[in-house]
Amino acid sequence: MRTKIVAGNWKMNNDLAETQTLIEQLIQQGDFSNKRVMIAPTAVHLSAAKSALSTSKIEVVAQNMHQAEAGAYTGEISGKMLKGIDVNTVILGHSERRAYFGETDTILEEKVAAALKQDIEVIFCFGEELEDRKAGNHFEVVASQIKNALFALDAAALKNIILAYEPVWAIGTGETASPEQAQEMHAFIRSLLAKKYGEATAQATSILYGGSVKPNNAQEIFSKADVDGGLIGGASLKAEDFFAIVKSL
Ligand code: PGA
Repeated sequence: MRTKIVAGNWKMNNDLAETQTLIEQLIQQGDFSNKRVMIAPTAVHLSAAKSALSTSKIEVVAQNMHQAEAGAYTGEISGKMLKGIDVNTVILGHSERRAYFGETDTILEEKVAAALKQDIEVIFCFGEELEDRKAGNHFEVVASQIKNALFALDAAALKNIILAYEPVWAIGTGETASPEQAQEMHAFIRSLLAKKYGEATAQATSILYGGSVKPNNAQEIFSKADVDGGLIGGASLKAEDFFAIVKSL
């Protein structure tokens, strides 16, 4: 069975005190079983989050990393640095990184390779814009994002990739893909993986949905056969909402 996952992407929110409070509240929400729960605070607070969660099953993951091993890249963070503080998972390819920081498929291919080289698991995000969907190009766009950044990997490497389908028009907008739209796309992605890597690998890969997942819509989205969990933005900033989503998986 595929691993079920709920990951909270905190983006550029929460100072240190807020980070600590939210983590305490998350711990108080109690335990969970049979799934992975992750939070992605700002890189500045990864170490603090790691220590605060040292006895919890909640995992701490990074929101981004640079593709180079080291060097003159002012302001950037390498995979080795993440690994050095025991952060073993990184989100790559988020639409905000693509849109505001110029991350192309080629850069993302390099970032994925750099992460895997450090033995860091990747939550790889992709998804179409509203125009793509309106024009009926959404399958094509998603297929090319996945092929361009990931298909140079072999099946063994793909085991360290979690996919996250995030239609750009649904991120932070309150607009959610319907459970049927999510399922349709997730099934398409799995068939794409099956063609390239075989059915066993496709069936073993977790595909998360992201985009305005809230306590009131999570259960219906998660009930779909090819949806293995969620990448949660806004609703991950409130412990109660985040755990309501965790529980509905
Ligand atoms: P949202 O963000 O839940 O606020 O729409 C999702 C994401 O950006 O990962």
